[in-house]
Amino acid sequence: MARPVPRKPEIAEQLLPPAAYLSDAWFEREQRELFSRAWSFACTTPDVSEPGDYLVVQVGRYPMFVIRDRDGELRAYHNICRHRGTQVLEGKGNQRHGIVCRYHTWTYNLDGSLRGLPKHAELFPDLDVKRIGLHKGSLGVLGDLVFVNPDPDPEPFADWLGGIEGTHMWPHRVAGLSEKRPIRYDIACNWKLFCENAMDGYHLSYLHDKTLMGPDSMRQDWDAVGRHWVFISFGESANRQDTQYSPIPGVDASGRHPVVWQFFPNSGVLGTSIFFSAYTIVPVAPERCYLELRTWMMPMETQREEKRVRPSGSSGHGTIMPDGKRLISIPTLSGHAMDSLDFQIEDMWICERQQGALRSPRFQVGPLAARVETALTFFQRNILDFVPLDSPLSRAAE
Ligand code: FES
Ligand SMILES: [Fe+2]
Repeated sequence: MARPVPRKPEIAEQLLPPAAYLSDAWFEREQRELFSRAWSFACTTPDVSEPGDYLVVQVGRYPMFVIRDRDGELRAYHNICRHRGTQVLEGKGNQRHGIVCRYHTWTYNLDGSLRGLPKHAELFPDLDVKRIGLHKGSLGVLGDLVFVNPDPDPEPFADWLGGIEGTHMWPHRVAGLSEKRPIRYDIACNWKLFCENAMDGYHLSYLHDKTLMGPDSMRQDWDAVGRHWVFISFGESANRQDTQYSPIPGVDASGRHPVVWQFFPNSGVLGTSIFFSAYTIVPVAPERCYLELRTWMMPMETQREEKRVRPSGSSGHGTIMPDGKRLISIPTLSGHAMDSLDFQIEDMWICERQQGALRSPRFQVGPLAARVETALTFFQRNILDFVPLDSPLSRAAE
């Protein structure tokens, strides 16, 4: 039977104690009780269109990869060699002829079974390759997006979605769009603070007064769908710079329409009339996480995008990593975060400022905004469903 999910709260209140954002014990419990069975955005179906195409992804502490097998099926495996546990694959690519671990070249078939290893007869006389294979995870597809779960037998993907396809689905398809350089934002805060910030519609007109400029709290709403949060805007955002960009055909941004889908626990989608983004907020340690962000726009815009600085872009910030991603962190910015003209940088700056206060005995969350900050309460209720406050372990974590 599907587990009951929390309803949309009437009252906005902080439910998690500071320890939930600070302590190693709490972090460990989240990994064990939540991320071990969490669905997380991994990639798009066009990323892995051909047999052998793969892409690695991090789900909590679980390194995993998605690969298309010889029959065209998508599969998810733990990215852990069964020899000495090395991560088998890196980045993205194609392993049509077998998944090869670079350490000692143990080779797996695309169905995860172990095909062979060097000096098998001489050095591993008792090893039966049929008895060992890559650990399996689970995989689900929503629109163009692929989600993975470290658990081989998790809550079914359709149940976890909670009917989002039938109620609030985005019209965007990545096929007609082109992708900007992906960005990793390295953030010195607990992953939940960054998620809560992403679900906080109250700050949009204030923290982002130079970038997003809204929508105002009274021109927005949110819906709870399953464990997920859907942000609804009443009409197009006030962002004047949007008009400089080519609109994506088929996206109607007039009237009441969904703009952000935050999938519990740590993935999300942002779909406006000019861009489409998908992201994960990956926990690293109690006070560190990173945001993996991918964005698609109309083809002519992605070329122009690298040459200019604008609200949903980050050109000029950070460094380019060997895998082609841009890496951005607050200490490496050349100027102040609030001058970056990147709303994600503004967000990570403010979340780091909040994290920095959490250790003070004076830290306390005060009154929360009606209607809009109930989203934080909803998110925290979902966390507490997996990591309850009343267990002996949670008390030890405080
Ligand atoms: S660790 Fe992979 S082959 Fe040895
Ligand atoms: Fe924000």
